[in-house]
Amino acid sequence: MKITIITLFPEMFHGVFDFGPVRIAREKKLVDIRFLNLADYAETPKDVDDYPYGGGAGMVIKPEPVKRSLLAAGDGFRVLTTPKGKPYTQEIANVLSKKEHLIIFCGRYKGIDERVRDLFDYEISIGDYVLSGGEIPAMVIVDSVVRLLPGATSDITSVLTDSYQSGILSEPQYTRPRVFEGKEVPGVLLSGNHREIERYRRKEALRVTLLRRPDLLFKVKLDKEDFELIVEILKEAQNEQRNEGD
Ligand code: ADE
Repeated sequence: MKITIITLFPEMFHGVFDFGPVRIAREKKLVDIRFLNLADYAETPKDVDDYPYGGGAGMVIKPEPVKRSLLAAGDGFRVLTTPKGKPYTQEIANVLSKKEHLIIFCGRYKGIDERVRDLFDYEISIGDYVLSGGEIPAMVIVDSVVRLLPGATSDITSVLTDSYQSGILSEPQYTRPRVFEGKEVPGVLLSGNHREIERYRRKEALRVTLLRRPDLLFKVKLDKEDFELIVEILKEAQNEQRNEGD
């Protein structure tokens, strides 16, 4: 996979892609990440942005450097980072990870001239808050996409069972020591009974999702056993409430 990032601040990315799955993927040549400096595609570095017609605060990126830099990036799937974009999800990450060439244009200032917006295939927002620019969103997109490439992580099952990849949140995790400050690891995890462990994990994943993000349960396919587990969880919650009331 090839990723081209168009930005006014390529230096911001130094180091970010040198750790974890992105580093591994780069070393294994599963991904080739390149940068184009937007300033190189303006008449002069001062001609990247200008005041908005009609007045108002902030600067708007001029249409010429947007178009020229996209042409220089070559054929590919063109993504613009902007707070006005579609909310970014794991599903979108999955789709992007299958593209041969992903081009990410980091928006800045008040945005880009409206007349070049149609040059993009997709607009992404990473959340309902305003950042100073699209560089951090581009880092988020690259990290979430590259870790999905086969070979980028040592353990693909870990990627497949990630929160969100499975459609629900992941269950609580424990590692050694077995007892920490008097708190014990749930016994079932030490039982060696794989069926019981799987059932316990699924139930706890459903429980945390039910408590924190019940909306996700409406989007994911649940099977008969999941519904049985949910009934168990709700009954447990009801018993707890009763006990509290006593
Ligand atoms: N640029 C500024 N804020 C942003 C956001 N939340 N998502 C994507 N791009 C942005």
